[in-house]
Amino acid sequence: MAHPVADGLRGRDLLALSDLTPEEFERIIETSLDLKHRWAAGDRPRALEHRTIAMIFEKQSLRTRSTFDIAMFQLGGHSVLLSQNYIGWGVRETIRDVAHNLERWVDGIMARTYGHETLTELARHADVPVINGLSDLLHPCQLLADYLTMRETFGTMRDLTIAYVGDGNNVCNTHVEAATLAGSRLRIACPEGFDPDEGVLAAARARGGEIEVVRDPRAAAADADVLYTDVWISMGQEEDSGRRREAFAGYTVTPEWFDDLSSRGVFMHDLPAHYGEECTEESVYHERSVVFDQAENRLHAQKGVLVELLSEG
Ligand code: CP
Ligand code: NVA
Repeated sequence: MAHPVADGLRGRDLLALSDLTPEEFERIIETSLDLKHRWAAGDRPRALEHRTIAMIFEKQSLRTRSTFDIAMFQLGGHSVLLSQNYIGWGVRETIRDVAHNLERWVDGIMARTYGHETLTELARHADVPVINGLSDLLHPCQLLADYLTMRETFGTMRDLTIAYVGDGNNVCNTHVEAATLAGSRLRIACPEGFDPDEGVLAAARARGGEIEVVRDPRAAAADADVLYTDVWISMGQEEDSGRRREAFAGYTVTPEWFDDLSSRGVFMHDLPAHYGEECTEESVYHERSVVFDQAENRLHAQKGVLVELLSEG
């Protein structure tokens, strides 16, 4: 476990947004926005000079892998890409041994895993911060970029109505945590049997989260400021695809749905998209879509996370 130090987020793990207070969540977003503006203005802060992270991937990635790498480079640091093929963790050597090697070389570890418990095991052993780059349970870095996008789109990330339609998966679970921190109203529409994680939901409600789970996706979208969807078949669920495609009939978001949103309402998706399943290609390329702003903001949000957790201050 990384050792928390007095200065806010420095030295901490980021495995779940529920690890953060609302103030810390907002602080990462504001740091990300500031770094984005500074970069656009030609400022080149080297907040992570001589800092190094290891990036471990058990699964594929375009956005997470690229943006962590680019973020480290642009802030003067360096990243080392490792994949299951390279290190064979849990097979060639134990996660504990991997942790005790890496902590001697790097200042942080970002990992994308199947089981969330693999991440918690890594974090338990590693003496440097561990950042969740997606697990089967949660995807905190995605929602930081998404709330940064909402903050820019609406001028605030408070008092928004968000409709998430689709599978109650890692992205949906993280919506539950993020909405609780930001104080947004979250309506989740999913077929029975595909609800978000019970524990995540119960913990969020205990913290005052306003989260509704319904079965009618069009009703969930009515008057929403954000209509958000994600794939029905996440990485690792390919064998279950037939059953899932049947269960999610009626959940394909098309641009007609956008007429039901609030006047400022936008469409969001974390990508990759499976066109013809959770949404059409027209939805992603529609004028009310901010999907590529989200993708761009992965870079800036990654910078915010890295600076808050890893910079020397
Ligand atoms: N949204 C997201 O995490 O994309 P990647 O899987 O490509 O990293
Ligand atoms: N729910 C998707 C998110 C991909 C970024 C998955 O886990 O495959």
